[in-house]
Amino acid sequence: MKEMNRRDFMKTVVIGGASLGLGSAILHKPLDALASGKYDIGQCKSVRVTCVSELGWNDTKVLIKNMKAGGGPKANQWDIGWDLDNAAGSCTLIDMEALDGTHHKFLLDTGWNVDYMDKCFQREGVDRMLKKGDIECLVISHEHLDHYWGLESTLKNNPEIKVFIPSTFYSEGMNFMNGTNFPKAKATNNVPHRGKLVQCKPGHINKLYDGCALVAFDLPIVIRVRGEESLYFNVKDKGMVCVTGCCHQGILTFADFAQKKIVGGDKMYGVYGGLHIAPFGPIKPERAHLITGMAKYNFEKVACNHCTGLKAVEKMIELGYPLVKGSGKHGSVSQLYVGAGDEVFFG
Ligand SMILES: [Fe+2]
Ligand SMILES: [Fe+2]
Repeated sequence: MKEMNRRDFMKTVVIGGASLGLGSAILHKPLDALASGKYDIGQCKSVRVTCVSELGWNDTKVLIKNMKAGGGPKANQWDIGWDLDNAAGSCTLIDMEALDGTHHKFLLDTGWNVDYMDKCFQREGVDRMLKKGDIECLVISHEHLDHYWGLESTLKNNPEIKVFIPSTFYSEGMNFMNGTNFPKAKATNNVPHRGKLVQCKPGHINKLYDGCALVAFDLPIVIRVRGEESLYFNVKDKGMVCVTGCCHQGILTFADFAQKKIVGGDKMYGVYGGLHIAPFGPIKPERAHLITGMAKYNFEKVACNHCTGLKAVEKMIELGYPLVKGSGKHGSVSQLYVGAGDEVFFG
């Protein structure tokens, strides 16, 4: 193991000298506050979200068995012997329309299993869009295997794509970006990233486009991951749309941040993504407040999937929340939420 780390380290140094290296990572310049203390990210016309895949893994029992065998929730995800047959992944295609009618397409996350993600990309045309340069950047919400380890599926189609990561990434995640493989965890990236790598510091408001901002939250997450970044869209005449990967920071923290700090955040419009409420089945008592607490935002469209968990979705429906349903195809297990190949339009 020690030997592998040394070899991987040398590989990073060589790549660093030749093409990219960690030194080329830059911090995003955050917005300045208005006199009111709030931040103006501007407005956009609409946001169309395509769920490329929301299925993190096939069988929760296998995932938990792998995690326990590797040392439990406190173990390092890069040191756990995951069963690759069980791996799928979370990936979202976003098409934001600016007020002048121009479109900006980008990805939030890139899934886990490269073979599985290649098929998802082919099905949704993401591979062709990447090759043509129609997808402007890749935002990685956090380092978790089911969001990040399918990186090769993106890079093989465009190794120069601009990538945004939280500045809290561990060294393994940075090395993986540069082409280091982790055989024990079966995490492979054979295409080193050659484009701009932008790090987002927790708490900063990073405007990506007029009406779109990326914000990182600093927190410890299971299997030794730290920090998650999520997106806000300020849709003209509609309100704020919150888009997330796993939302480990919690939906209340995520939505409250926009309400307190972003102009337009006092009117919530929608939410999309994983809300990490009941990812492994039942709703744990300590997470129930996340569901009931969402009521105060009066979201008009709730399109949550992935680690939100079916039990949490059912509870939201029971409470009368405006859940966006899906078609339950391509491996997504229920029609009660937006699944693979389904679209949600906010505008
Ligand atoms: Fe996830
Ligand atoms: Fe996660």
